[in-house]
Amino acid sequence: MSHETVIILDFGGQYNQLIARRVRECQIYCEVLPCTTPLEELKARNPIGIIFTGGPNSVYLETSPQVDPALFTWGVPILGICYGCQLLAHTLGGQVTEAQDGAAREYGKTVTYYDTSCPLFRGLPETGVSWMSHGDYMAKVPAGFSLTARSDACPNVAIADEARGFYGVQFHPEVNHTEHGLQILRNFLYEICGAAGDWTMGDYKQTAIAAIREKVGDGRVLLALSGGVDSSVAAALLAEAIGSQLTCVFVDHGLMRLHEGDEVEAAFAQWELQFIRVNAEDRFLVRLAGESEPERKRKIIGEEFIRVFEEESQKIGAVDFLAQGTIYPDVIESGAGDAAVIKSHHNVGGLPDCVDFKEILEPLRMLFKDEVRQLGRELGLPEYLVARQPFPGPGLAIRIIGDITKEKADTLREADFIFHEELAKTGEDRNLSQYFAVLTNTRSVGVMGDGRTYDYTLALRAVSTADFMTADWARIPYETLDRISTRIVNEVPGINRIVYDITSKPPATIEWE
Ligand code: XMP
Repeated sequence: MSHETVIILDFGGQYNQLIARRVRECQIYCEVLPCTTPLEELKARNPIGIIFTGGPNSVYLETSPQVDPALFTWGVPILGICYGCQLLAHTLGGQVTEAQDGAAREYGKTVTYYDTSCPLFRGLPETGVSWMSHGDYMAKVPAGFSLTARSDACPNVAIADEARGFYGVQFHPEVNHTEHGLQILRNFLYEICGAAGDWTMGDYKQTAIAAIREKVGDGRVLLALSGGVDSSVAAALLAEAIGSQLTCVFVDHGLMRLHEGDEVEAAFAQWELQFIRVNAEDRFLVRLAGESEPERKRKIIGEEFIRVFEEESQKIGAVDFLAQGTIYPDVIESGAGDAAVIKSHHNVGGLPDCVDFKEILEPLRMLFKDEVRQLGRELGLPEYLVARQPFPGPGLAIRIIGDITKEKADTLREADFIFHEELAKTGEDRNLSQYFAVLTNTRSVGVMGDGRTYDYTLALRAVSTADFMTADWARIPYETLDRISTRIVNEVPGINRIVYDITSKPPATIEWE
């Protein structure tokens, strides 16, 4: 697979993944590599350009990460962002110091004036807002560089040495708060690095299929399919590549959303793979009976999942490859080279130990989530699978507070379905990152018809978030909440009160358990 490649050298900045996503959005393949990666390894990738990321350090401290000076005589264009910009200045003979008294220290949205004759800012208006976050200041710009942007507080917001192809910006073009940020990155990639833009999902699909066929040969592949986006797309890609050599084991633990198990199964009917659906609701409910402690519930489900998977894989016998839906953020976050990554609290965990296989196959390892979704669409997976919001491995078990019974799971499933249906009707679902119902363990008195009820309280939760690490509760209009509440109370027996969760994360978490 040979694509135009941009290397993003990671100096520890908080937006590094975002830079990579933006570059991919510009249809150019990129990889995030540690700033300590030896020059030879960088050269082996034959990049068309390099981006230095931001970072928490000050370049003038001895302990701060630096780069091999040979990088600057290689002839590859470089864009330095924030720390990366200061590193360019510092290494090439300029001077970076701590900004005094806040004069040139800038945080947040800052009005910026661009020199639009600089290739980096070509096509931009002369003034725009950029997102700054730096406490250091370029007191002296290195020889050969000119100043190409300024703010009211700081004359040195961007520097350029056009002859050598070196550019630096103190602000963050990758964040949405920077107006025209994407255009600045596009300019670097297309105008300065001379990219043609050969990274499209259609092409990727073809090259990935060819690579899988070559690697797998006539071997056999086993995949644990959860029905989530990543494992579903991995399954579809493998199915397209090797068809009947693939066995997918889909364990339905009975704690999925309404119709979910059938939907997953239906989505894979178009391929010739071996699809094993294990309906294991009974055994999961037996194991969970009487358990109300959240961590124990998670553990029981994780263990039971492995047991079911183990039993099935023993029936299948030895396989050559175990496939996993690991995606690029998992790889970057782990900082690991080629070790297989299993997200600790987010995955069922421990699967490879119980299966007899020779090698791990991770066909989505270099893709971001939105690219995984795009690939899923290319492969013909239905939208209900591809656009699916995150759903925790333990499923409804951690949305039923207290002990779990089939009756409670059915009640929750119905209520959750109505919530989804109503949000889809108004189109509000498109603005939400995750939304679901929670069956609280609280019962309260109500009145229906002329009679007293003593039924469960259902909580509705909806959040918007970029990364699921923090989240804001969603401001769903009262009218929509009203319709949802009325429908659920009328249509779902056992629920007589609805509350809406108005806590953000932190201090709450997204899930209730
Ligand atoms: P919290 O509740 O930690 O959730 O704010 C953050 C995101 O992670 C999902 N989540 C899980 N996903 N297994 C998973 O696969 C889990 O055990 C699990 N717990 C939480 C949650 O739905 C949200 O998207």
